[in-house]
Amino acid sequence: MHPVRIAPSLLAADFTTLRDEVQSVERAGCDWLHLDVMDGHFVPNLTFGPFIVAAIKKCASKPLDVHLMISDPWQYADAFLDAGSDLLTFHIEVEDGGDVGALLKHIRSRGKQAGLSVQPDTPVERLRPFVNDLDLVLIMSVFAGFGGQKFMTSVLPKVQELRAMGFAGEISMDGGIAAGTIADSAAAGTNVFVAGTAVFGADDRVARIAELRQLAMRARDGGRADTGRASSGSAS
Ligand code: DX5
Ligand code: ZN
Repeated sequence: MHPVRIAPSLLAADFTTLRDEVQSVERAGCDWLHLDVMDGHFVPNLTFGPFIVAAIKKCASKPLDVHLMISDPWQYADAFLDAGSDLLTFHIEVEDGGDVGALLKHIRSRGKQAGLSVQPDTPVERLRPFVNDLDLVLIMSVFAGFGGQKFMTSVLPKVQELRAMGFAGEISMDGGIAAGTIADSAAAGTNVFVAGTAVFGADDRVARIAELRQLAMRARDGGRADTGRASSGSAS
């Protein structure tokens, strides 16, 4: 079983003090740093490119989990790998633009981990041809583009569908992950939990990451949890 990993999304960080924000969540016990790259085309929002990823790499000690929400990952993959991405994920919805399998193999050939992501309305069946070329699948539990949206429980069955397909890698969920939703996600079989608002918005980030981790671990233990489950499904 893959370990529980908490991956704060820097989309919710204060970019005026980015180094402090990175170091704050690392000290608070996160496992990975999740970086949301948006191009204003694949999604209706813009964030940052390889230059900022490289800056984050300079002040980070945890792995960079880079989530490309861009229409042309073929054009930019090497720039993001050069910038220090440890894991590079792009969206299967860009499939018409090029050879998905070739890009996954290219990422791995550079010694990095390769991931594919699916929007809430994209069936995981589309990932079937690539399951052996993937280290991670990122299941969106909101429509990509913005932080702070409500978790969609309708995506939960995708985790078991992926396992039924023979996918043995890590499964990440992204969007609306918080104390009220993480147990359901973990019980479904997710092991990587991306959380923006829930972590960066917490007064006590140490306590919040510990709480998320504990809720996830208990839910994976078979749901014998005595905390958190009652509020599952809410976005709080
Ligand atoms: C959405 C991004 C997410 C998002 C998560 O497109 O991929 O990583 O920032 O933010 P919260 O946890 O606030 O939903
Ligand atoms: Zn993301």
